[in-house]
Amino acid sequence: MFGRHDVSPLWVADLDFAVCPDIVNGLRRRLDHPILGYYACPESYWDALADWLSRRHGLKTRREEMTFIPGVVKGIAYCVNFFTQKGDKILIQPPVYYPFRMVIEGNGRQVVENPLKFDGNSYSMDLEHLAETVERERPVMMILCNPHNPIGIQWDSETLAAVAAICRKAGVKVVSDEIHGDLMLNGRRHIPFIDSCDDAREIGIMLGAPSKTFNIPGLVSSWMIIKNPQLRGEFFDWLAVNEFSLPMMASILGAEQAYTHGEQWLDEMLRYIESNIEFALEYVADNIPEVKIIRPQTSFLLWVDFRGLGLCQKALMDMLLDKAHIALNDGTMFGVQGEGFARLNVGCPRSVLADALDHIRKAVESVCDCGK
Ligand SMILES: Cc1ncc(COP(=O)(O)O)c(C=O)c1O
Repeated sequence: MFGRHDVSPLWVADLDFAVCPDIVNGLRRRLDHPILGYYACPESYWDALADWLSRRHGLKTRREEMTFIPGVVKGIAYCVNFFTQKGDKILIQPPVYYPFRMVIEGNGRQVVENPLKFDGNSYSMDLEHLAETVERERPVMMILCNPHNPIGIQWDSETLAAVAAICRKAGVKVVSDEIHGDLMLNGRRHIPFIDSCDDAREIGIMLGAPSKTFNIPGLVSSWMIIKNPQLRGEFFDWLAVNEFSLPMMASILGAEQAYTHGEQWLDEMLRYIESNIEFALEYVADNIPEVKIIRPQTSFLLWVDFRGLGLCQKALMDMLLDKAHIALNDGTMFGVQGEGFARLNVGCPRSVLADALDHIRKAVESVCDCGK
């Protein structure tokens, strides 16, 4: 990926931690049986998912509102393909998870942007600009990131309700990617879009997965929830008839184990991530004052502001790779608003994070010393 082997990989959004042993043991037990034939998803999986969503987020669901999807990005792509036509406009809020744009443009639709507002310390949603843009550009769909990657914001219920009101009035469907919703930090609660108000329940499509939560993206066990029966009827039929919603054995086995037995593992993991984040914030404030970390409310991804160094993006990324020997996501992957930023994954042992920060400090000192 990065053209050299001597780098610490702190970019892709998965964890360096061994998964909850119950997940591995559950899969292992199944493999003791030597026949791996066609698979039927048990009702106990859906009960475990419904219990999880109710217990962790207060979201009440019924079985018919939920379906399996083989990945959240694929789920977004199904929504784009089923509900929109070539040339239609779809709204996103950059800087945002880059596959949103790829799915829209790759399927011949057009991106409309409502960039987040940045005050130098934190981001917010520009609701006034959203209302104007929806009115002017007439998008047919919005892809919401809730919580928002790469910034790590959980949108509050007033913001979500405002989005829902603007979009419902204009007939815009809202696809809400909530894959980071289980990773709330410091006791904060996740607010599912479809649970924020009546408007959101009418127009919302919620996508989620245990993949980030339990570090099992390789098992690919995502899901979709649509409350409005008119919205889901033909769509769920289309997913089923094309077998897009037909679950795979390992996906369901692993996910059910995770939702049933993984809670303690998750809570311990989140406490570790919280302490890594505090460590990184303190280290950077004390040792690399030119660099600023945007404090996240969720997940293990830090949005790091390197603009104080005055480097162009290429020089910044070259410095991180060739001098600091760490592989981060280039901020501009998430949109032009990411110029001067990079995304750092702190889902790793403290020693790896400490080394990476130390390497960044030395690299910054070297570029500052030679006048950039
Ligand atoms: C916001 C967001 N959505 C989706 C994904 C990927 O989900 P999946 O692997 O299920 O397609 C990621 C992974 O980083 C993500 O951050």
